[in-house]
Amino acid sequence: MRSIEFHNREKEINAIRNILNTDPTLITFIYGPINSGKTELINHLIKQLPEEYVVFYINLRTKLLASYDEFVESLFELEIAETRRKETLKELVSSITKAAGIPITPEFRDYVFKDKKPKNAFSYIIKLFEVVKESGHQPVLILDELQKISDLKVDGLLIYELFNFFIDLTKEKHLAHVFVATSDSLFLESIYNEAMLQERCRYLQVDDFDNQTTLKFLDTYTFSDTDKDVAWNYCGGKPVCLVELVNSENREEKARGMFIFRTGELETRLKLVKELGDEITIGGRRCDVHYEKLVNALKMFVSRDEVGMNEVDEVTKRYLVKTNILFVDPLRKMMKPQSKLNLRAIREVMKET
Ligand SMILES: Nc1ncnc2c1ncn2[C@@H]1O[C@H](COP(=O)(O)OP(=O)(O)OP(=O)(O)O)[C@@H](O)[C@H]1O
Ligand SMILES: [Mg+2]
Repeated sequence: MRSIEFHNREKEINAIRNILNTDPTLITFIYGPINSGKTELINHLIKQLPEEYVVFYINLRTKLLASYDEFVESLFELEIAETRRKETLKELVSSITKAAGIPITPEFRDYVFKDKKPKNAFSYIIKLFEVVKESGHQPVLILDELQKISDLKVDGLLIYELFNFFIDLTKEKHLAHVFVATSDSLFLESIYNEAMLQERCRYLQVDDFDNQTTLKFLDTYTFSDTDKDVAWNYCGGKPVCLVELVNSENREEKARGMFIFRTGELETRLKLVKELGDEITIGGRRCDVHYEKLVNALKMFVSRDEVGMNEVDEVTKRYLVKTNILFVDPLRKMMKPQSKLNLRAIREVMKET
């Protein structure tokens, strides 16, 4: 297997650098279709940042988050070594530049976990970030896959407490830059419509590569003109899909294989809804999913690459997004398939439906 170099993302990197060069004022939401390269971009950027920035990056993807305690555990890295027991926050901070969690000493652990109060955890983080700042560094907090805690409750919903905390860190205290990444476009849509976040956040889209960027990427791995056509026609600019082709002996066969697989997945899903029905929950209410409405919505993509978010009824829209067939961009109020492979699969399946 070939090792793949990080490719491009100049525009997005510049946008993030510009944000980092100013005082923290707004929360930045990084969003985009699934597998578009959001996490890869964040990790690349973290490696490149000057020492002036102390980054706390927490990826919630692999964490178990069924309870508040589990969420707190996923945020903090407990410093258990007995030798560091008496360490002050200042000493702790001097040893970190990039952390996959927020370091905490055993002394503060009890305080943070006490009484299941998010306030305790947040006031510890503020204290730690103040020490980072006093040491001449700029704290940066990045949370990846935040939607995983969207249903978690403490007294009320934890996510609201968290957003208030982020507003405090940015707009109020100008203490830390806060980035939140998500691939869940329904979650992003709810954020976009959330009154408490109005004018307190900005959005940065990380989409699949455009055509030019894709062709440049393929050039690095000596794709013939025919293979480039195959790659763009099947995978578009979806990095993960292009990487699969780079690592394949027969690129055309691989691309066709991925397409047939995706077509099969879509057929099966539609067949299940047709024969058994399905339902989704919206705001606590169970709503039936209708096969005919799904087909009508998907048929719109036969002649168009994207359609207006409100051209499709809410249940159908949410079902197609939840099942990772469509992606919603609430900023543009548009919907499109999660990938070119999905677009092609939709068109193929709709031929026979
Ligand atoms: N800029 C890039 N250069 C090279 N490869 C990339 C780039 N961006 C993404 N990739 C490849 O695509 C894969 C998927 O990217 P990544 O996990 O960052 O996507 P994501 O948008 O975070 O996905 P998810 O929606 O699941 O959170 C990576 O593991 C990597 O192989
Ligand atoms: Mg990711």
